[in-house]
Amino acid sequence: MTASVPATGTAAAARPHRVTLAGTDRSFDVAPGERLLGAARRAGVWLPYECGWGGCGTCKVQVVEGTTQLLFEAAPAVDPRDARRGRVVACQSAPTSDLVVKAPRADDVPTPERPTRDHRARLETREELAPDIVRLRLRLDREAVYRPGQHAVLGLGPGLRRCYSMAGPPGSTEVSFVVKRYPGRPGSERAFALAPGEEVDVELPYGDMWLRDGDRPAVLVAGGTGISAISALAQHLAGQAGTPAAERVSRPVHVFYGAATRAELVCWDELVEHTAAMPDGHLHGALVTPDAGWGGAVGFVTEPLADRLPALGDADFYVAGPPVMTDAVTALLRTHGVQLDRVHHDSFG
Ligand SMILES: Cc1cc2nc3c(=O)[nH]c(=O)nc-3n(C[C@H](O)[C@H](O)[C@H](O)COP(=O)(O)OP(=O)(O)OC[C@H]3O[C@@H](n4cnc5c(N)ncnc54)[C@H](O)[C@@H]3O)c2cc1C
Ligand code: FES
Repeated sequence: MTASVPATGTAAAARPHRVTLAGTDRSFDVAPGERLLGAARRAGVWLPYECGWGGCGTCKVQVVEGTTQLLFEAAPAVDPRDARRGRVVACQSAPTSDLVVKAPRADDVPTPERPTRDHRARLETREELAPDIVRLRLRLDREAVYRPGQHAVLGLGPGLRRCYSMAGPPGSTEVSFVVKRYPGRPGSERAFALAPGEEVDVELPYGDMWLRDGDRPAVLVAGGTGISAISALAQHLAGQAGTPAAERVSRPVHVFYGAATRAELVCWDELVEHTAAMPDGHLHGALVTPDAGWGGAVGFVTEPLADRLPALGDADFYVAGPPVMTDAVTALLRTHGVQLDRVHHDSFG
């Protein structure tokens, strides 16, 4: 019988648990406390997934026999009906016994969008961009393979895993992240305090917010530190990220970026450069509390977006930032009749 056991601090057994895929002869071991999804991937069994942290629900599997421990009870993808149905979020569940699970699919190779790998990384530089915002540059043990717009999961300490979007181009052993500190909250405090020379575990890539092919206009919308993913996409579209010539499209690109103050509008000058390098690039800023001399919109990022939406209804949209911002943008797009399958977003929580 199936049981999805919430995290109670129960000590995990010291031996690995064996997980068998129902109706097949495939099985893999999961080390004590290890997540089902990660263990499957490390064993070369690629189950469906997308966000890697409990946000999307793509990785749910049905436990036919055995018990699991949910490691992030508040994960948005956890549905109270899951326990009754024996369904668990594989990226945030650890077996507490041997298991038989039913997965919608299991492949021998990763999807091209998500060839996720484990890395060890050392912090090389820490650059203060604003009072509570830093850019971290890390050196990985091997080349980072991802699509601009995707994110990593950083292992910041025991039980402390948090997502950060890659802020620069792929294809080298360097990755950069723009990290905001939320005082008193564990993940961002730890990431913000990382010192050069310190090492962390990095899993990448995750996420579905990568550039889709086509000639439609691309609209990139960033709120706060959502700028990391949007900046990577803007660099790519500007052809500054090792973009193959064939991908240097001439389609119109509109970048909308909102923050509270000018000081928090980090990476603005870089965005000015990227949009200027595009054949048809446009940058629109919004500040909640503008300084004297600010020439952009006043208010949330939805203000300049709403003004231009009637002309951009046929675009592909890429939206990154805190949930309140991504929800507001999605609601606005819906009222303008934008097809939601054209909206790709990373909601930061
Ligand atoms: C796809 C994605 C990309 C992100 N990119 C950036 C970025 O580029 N820059 C940036 O500053 N922030 C980014 N974030 C937000 C970041 O991951 C943290 O949520 C934020 O730093 C606050 O973490 P905290 O621990 O300080 O706060 P907390 O309040 O402790 O946690 C905040 C959020 O972290 C998540 N969380 C909590 N516990 C767990 C857990 N056990 N496992 C996984 N997640 C958990 C939940 O979403 C929670 O709501 C991103 C988030 C997501 C989902
Ligand atoms: S909830 Fe597990 S991959 Fe998104």
